[in-house]
Amino acid sequence: MTEAILLVGGKGTRLRPLTVNTPKPMVPAAGVPFLTHQLARARAAGVTHVVLATSYLAEVFEPHFGDGSALGLELEYVTEDEPLGTGGAIRNVAPRLRSAPDEPVLIFNGDILTGLDIRALVSTHSATGADVSLHLTRVADPRAYGLVPTDDTGRVTAFLEKPQTPEEIVTDQINAGAYVFRRSLIDTIPAGRPVSVERETFPGLLAEGAHLQGMVDSTYWLDLGTPQAFVRGSADLVLGRAPSPAVPGRCGDRLVLPTARVAPDAKLTGGTVVGEGAVIGSGARVMGSTILSGAVVEPGAVITDSLVGEGARIGARTLLDGAVIGDGASVGTDNELRAGVRVWCGAVLPDGSVRFSSDM
Ligand code: GTP
Repeated sequence: MTEAILLVGGKGTRLRPLTVNTPKPMVPAAGVPFLTHQLARARAAGVTHVVLATSYLAEVFEPHFGDGSALGLELEYVTEDEPLGTGGAIRNVAPRLRSAPDEPVLIFNGDILTGLDIRALVSTHSATGADVSLHLTRVADPRAYGLVPTDDTGRVTAFLEKPQTPEEIVTDQINAGAYVFRRSLIDTIPAGRPVSVERETFPGLLAEGAHLQGMVDSTYWLDLGTPQAFVRGSADLVLGRAPSPAVPGRCGDRLVLPTARVAPDAKLTGGTVVGEGAVIGSGARVMGSTILSGAVVEPGAVITDSLVGEGARIGARTLLDGAVIGDGASVGTDNELRAGVRVWCGAVLPDGSVRFSSDM
């Protein structure tokens, strides 16, 4: 048996306003809370016991996932009194772990969509006898990430957080947010105070001479921390580009959940998801977007690469491109919202009140 810890307690500030009422791992991607995909992938890799490390809006996880049996898992929940950061959260759930001191424990960030071969990460860990093994992926522009250079055997040589100068960018390998820890090492993380696993635990272990092993796996990988990435990830799940056993339906150009109503002449493409009870009006076109449950898209609206929150309304002929509309917001008719615009939960935009001009 392999057991896993899922870190799901972050505030998800970059994803606001989607995370005002809902913690990031519970925002629906391809029709189900994003966390479902991670749990289903962990189960498919042989994980049976998962501890969720919760903090922000902790109370919403258990009512949805219960004891985990619907996913074939045994789920436990541990809530921090104060947010303890990634390392502190791992240490905080240690009493719930069942592995023997030398056995591997998987740890996943709760906001990464990836095709990582989880079994291969565990095998690499065992074969190399590492203390910690990390999934590494390669990115074109590593500046926003933690760089993890390795030697020719894959052993980690340094941790460089968010490098800026060209001299600091010594590799394109980044920390991809999935780890295997030797069980006994988790107890060495200080208890009862915030600890960052990326900034404190990993560099500290390296300085003490611990064996940290990197495994580069360059299959699908996306950090769903921003609205643009979240919408992209959801569409990729629907299109079948990102693998998950939990997509509720066949992969294809669109996913329409059972109680949604879509006008026969509306066009849904590019991995668009229409949630439970949502309504898409006549002649509307929705591309690569997520329309959450109960939202209403009125006739003739054109929506591209955008996310429309629960119960929100998009008025007739309104155009959204790269926009995020918070839960319950109402965007009147004939508006034009582009390029990263975020409309807050419950906000009301009158008819024809916003126009986009490229001359400004
Ligand atoms: P931003 O605020 O937008 O940066 O998002 P975030 O709060 O999720 O932070 P980040 O993306 O750095 O977190 C990485 C992972 O660790 C996510 O899965 C978070 O849910 C989780 N996480 C971050 N801080 C904490 C914490 O204090 N406690 C717990 N339990 N999880 C955390």
